[in-house]
Amino acid sequence: MSFQAPKGVSEYYPPRSALFEEARDAFARQARAACYGYVEQPVFEDTALFARGVGESTDVVSKEMYSFADRGGRDITLRPEFTAGVVRAVLEHGLHKGALPVKLWTAGPVFRYERPQSGRYRQFYQFDLEAIGTQDPAVDVETIVLAYDAYTSLGLSQFRLLLNSLGDKACRPVYRQALQDFLRGLDLDDETRTRIEVNPLRVLDDKRPEVRAQLDGAPVIADYLCDECAAHHATVRAMLTDLKIPFEDAPRLVRGLDYYMRTTYEFDHALLGAQSGIGGGGRYDGLSEDIGGPPLPGIGFAVGLDRIVLALEAERPGHTPEVNRCQVYGVPLGEDTEAAVLAIVTELRRAGIRAGMSFGQRGLKGSMKAADRSGADYAILVGQQERQAGLVAIKNLKDGDQHDVPAPNATQWLAQRLREG
Ligand code: HAM
Repeated sequence: MSFQAPKGVSEYYPPRSALFEEARDAFARQARAACYGYVEQPVFEDTALFARGVGESTDVVSKEMYSFADRGGRDITLRPEFTAGVVRAVLEHGLHKGALPVKLWTAGPVFRYERPQSGRYRQFYQFDLEAIGTQDPAVDVETIVLAYDAYTSLGLSQFRLLLNSLGDKACRPVYRQALQDFLRGLDLDDETRTRIEVNPLRVLDDKRPEVRAQLDGAPVIADYLCDECAAHHATVRAMLTDLKIPFEDAPRLVRGLDYYMRTTYEFDHALLGAQSGIGGGGRYDGLSEDIGGPPLPGIGFAVGLDRIVLALEAERPGHTPEVNRCQVYGVPLGEDTEAAVLAIVTELRRAGIRAGMSFGQRGLKGSMKAADRSGADYAILVGQQERQAGLVAIKNLKDGDQHDVPAPNATQWLAQRLREG
């Protein structure tokens, strides 16, 4: 009997995993450049954290969580997102008592029991970044710019930034009421009617054409923002414009999680079909209080690394990142030469050159084939003769040129050639 991975999980292995690493590293670089600190979070938390933090009425909590009782009878859930857990950790460890905002990032697997399809998985991977402890709209913009720069640094361009404000505790209830009044007058099925009462903003997100057709005249939140929210939103828009970050106002943009307030945004990729959201985020100024903490505003985003891999493949077909490719490949010829080759490749690696070698006495033909497969620019060949003479033969695998170089000079010789390209 052989096993397959469970339904709906994504997994990465070479060479494709290099794209995954590239995507995660691009975001980590942005986070570090803006002095965000790293957090490593537990994969599971108390179920109540997500029920209260993310919201009982959301699809994520009501239908998609991997929840179970552990052997001690505790109600546990595999994290469906990072934000609630990050805020829990900040409160638990008192990070909010130091300098504010607390700026943190993390990355790893998250779990949602969704219907699997291309770009939608049950275990998927997020990079997540949070700035906790300030209401300053400049930090909203900071997070957006970091995400934008990470996408563009990866060579992505076919994406849009959609921006909205969801108001706050003062103005959203008034909008919610107006929206409910409008929606109650439409021709909708029973499930959607229930949603109008529980979570009316989600109805705006309905993708079915028969529902969309009726939403044209729906009230938009922009007309209901209180003065503070309107000013906050105007500042965010002005700063993005100043920084030349292109965005589209998306007055119907709602997010799948309940904690959002004021600024919300999504990045949407043009070539990904139905699962086009490559990242999203916003403010969650009430989340800390929802989970028993003091008032502590926050903003952040998460990106779906799986979808970024798909976007990279769509926008840059044929491009393979360098990380897994060897630059130099060692070929021991005959007995007693393996140790000499291992010593040289070790020195190369210590000098920052990616180097592999042939194991298992494969002989010249087999080893040269392996050298080609490794993608290396150069092979270093060491036979009995070379070993005794203290030399290595360095072969340029592109043009076939071969030089004998004294073994102690090999690293320097190769480093220079590789630098020159
Ligand atoms: P989210 O919009 O639920 O936000 O997820 C963020 C990103 O995760 C999405 O834009 C998408 O790229 C990816 N994603 C979501 N579901 C799946 C799936 N089933 N398969 C593959 N990728 C998926 C959050 O999770 C918030 N915690 C973001 C945030 C951080 N807000 C404030 N801080």
